[in-house]
Amino acid sequence: MNPSHQRILVTGACGFIGSHTVEHLLNQGHQVLAIDNLRTGNRDNLSSVAEHPSLQTEIFSVCERDRLESVAAEFEPNAIIHLAALVSVQESIDNPEDNYQLNLANTHSICEVARKHDVKRVVFASSAAIFGNPIQLPIDENHPKAPLSPYGMGKWVSEQILDQYRMHYGIDTYALRFFNVYGPRQDPSSPYSGVISIFSDRISANQSLTVFGDGLQTRDFIYVKDVAAIISNAATARDVPSGPYNICTGKETTLNQLIETLGRITNTSPETNYEAPREGDIIESLGSNEKLIANKLFSGLFMPLEDGLRNLLA
Ligand SMILES: NC(=O)c1ccc[n+]([C@@H]2O[C@H](COP(=O)([O-])OP(=O)(O)OC[C@H]3O[C@@H](n4cnc5c(N)ncnc54)[C@H](O)[C@@H]3O)[C@@H](O)[C@H]2O)c1
Repeated sequence: MNPSHQRILVTGACGFIGSHTVEHLLNQGHQVLAIDNLRTGNRDNLSSVAEHPSLQTEIFSVCERDRLESVAAEFEPNAIIHLAALVSVQESIDNPEDNYQLNLANTHSICEVARKHDVKRVVFASSAAIFGNPIQLPIDENHPKAPLSPYGMGKWVSEQILDQYRMHYGIDTYALRFFNVYGPRQDPSSPYSGVISIFSDRISANQSLTVFGDGLQTRDFIYVKDVAAIISNAATARDVPSGPYNICTGKETTLNQLIETLGRITNTSPETNYEAPREGDIIESLGSNEKLIANKLFSGLFMPLEDGLRNLLA
């Protein structure tokens, strides 16, 4: 595959990670077909590239299989990046049928579209949620999988669907297991959204913060533009072995450290209320990115958390 000027179909393109991925692909000179039904995404997220001559945007649901097939047949993508999903763990518990359709059946549809239209690569947004409560840290790709929600189950079963398409139909599939992604355009409106988007939104509005537990729980936060570069590489780079990859920095940060850093950047001391831990919340999360680095899916330095937070709050 020639790494330059490829044709990439992106689902979930108007979302948080999707919009940064589209921008990155366009900056690299690729042609992009962006698909989104605006379920949780927003067309404005693509406003910086809306008039780009290499971008075509289509607003419809991945569930509309006939339409998906016809745009794929016309566009003839070299690769599909499948980011569209039901993204809230709580919503997956409340609406398991929607979770089945959006996080599982749609992955199968995407693989079928790839098989029928001779698309050689599929890059899928998986999640650290497939691991459940870690039994060893850092979490590497072989860590046991024990998802605690329909959301995590959907991602894990999706990975197995991808494996079948790799084994039997020769499609290179990449399951990118994102840890905690943060950065501009993450929607803070849901209580289950990323903690960084909620905290920075509340600090900007001079509101207090709520921490469930003692604040010593850790997360592996990765900046969205680093994630976009990794997704683009997975879709276009030569000689990167297919399979699962943890997408993380390999650094853990406690929520208390996060609050302290946000306070330093904004020159405030946010009032913080500590409440009882939420059932099912994971205490420690830290990924190993050795495989990601060894296979050159990411090169250079990860955005340091403090710098990423400054960009977010700028
Ligand atoms: N943000 C994170 O920290 C994180 C962590 C792990 C995994 N992920 C995964 O990364 C992907 C992107 O997540 P995000 O954080 O950007 O969330 P997001 O909600 O901003 O993006 C999801 C996008 O998919 C679109 N979408 C949903 N259903 C669709 C459908 N049927 N047809 C077309 N478009 C549809 C939404 O409108 C939205 O634009 C998701 O698959 C998510 O599960 C994200």
